[in-house]
Amino acid sequence: MTTTAIVTGAGTGFGLALTRALADRGVAVVACARDAVRLRSAVADLPGVHAVPGDVNDPAARAAVLAAAGERIDLLVHNAGELGPSPLPTLSDYPAGALRAVLETTLLAPLQLTQLALPALRAAGGTVVTLSSDAAVEAYPGWGGYGAGKAALDQFAAVLGVEEPDLAVYAFDPGDMRTAMHQRAFPGEDISDRPQPETVVPAFLRLVDERPASGRYRAADLAVPA
Ligand SMILES: NC(=O)c1ccc[n+]([C@@H]2O[C@H](COP(=O)([O-])OP(=O)(O)OC[C@H]3O[C@@H](n4cnc5c(N)ncnc54)[C@H](OP(=O)(O)O)[C@@H]3O)[C@@H](O)[C@H]2O)c1
Repeated sequence: MTTTAIVTGAGTGFGLALTRALADRGVAVVACARDAVRLRSAVADLPGVHAVPGDVNDPAARAAVLAAAGERIDLLVHNAGELGPSPLPTLSDYPAGALRAVLETTLLAPLQLTQLALPALRAAGGTVVTLSSDAAVEAYPGWGGYGAGKAALDQFAAVLGVEEPDLAVYAFDPGDMRTAMHQRAFPGEDISDRPQPETVVPAFLRLVDERPASGRYRAADLAVPA
């Protein structure tokens, strides 16, 4: 049973929806996001949730997250993501510095946070989940930077899964969700037909509860009847 979790990017969107659901289950959650006021107010009423404001790219913030979690981590969720420029530029115009920022948050921060967390994850026989996207496997114009980051993160999860056979390591593709990031990807468009992030949480919980073999899983394939 999951008792201690870290969720990055927990101030809004899917990370907040997941944090709420974990708190409902009695899980002690260390919740991280950059906007301290928004994060603290979002989790203020959630029992067992410890807000640790900070940027996952900041070594001190990663250390603070680990210190708050303690010596046993059952679940580490690399949910914080970086879309890159909006509107999404084609690769012909993609600024290298913007891609570097996407890769810092998408790939390097999860690597370094995982490295810090591994002793506590091993102690718990824990689970690591990275948030993937269909843009990691499909070729959509404009999604080259974000998609390259998510493809790299998928491969990170795949290799971690074989290197750490006592852990469960999943790349989880949530599908489209009505969030701030999704709106930035489609500026000016009506995204009200996209599902709320709360509707994806049951698929995520099914994944960590059933603990299938490490690998890449789509929420759509884990759908839980309402
Ligand atoms: N929405 C979709 O349709 C969709 C589809 C596929 C995959 N995903 C993936 O799902 C995950 C969650 O996305 P979302 O749509 O829920 O995003 P969101 O609503 O924009 O929320 C992102 C959260 O991450 C935090 N965050 C961003 N950068 C951070 C950083 N460097 N350090 C710490 N926290 C950071 C943000 O808060 P602060 O700004 O306060 O830091 C916010 O709380 C992402 O990995 C995304 O790529 C989303």
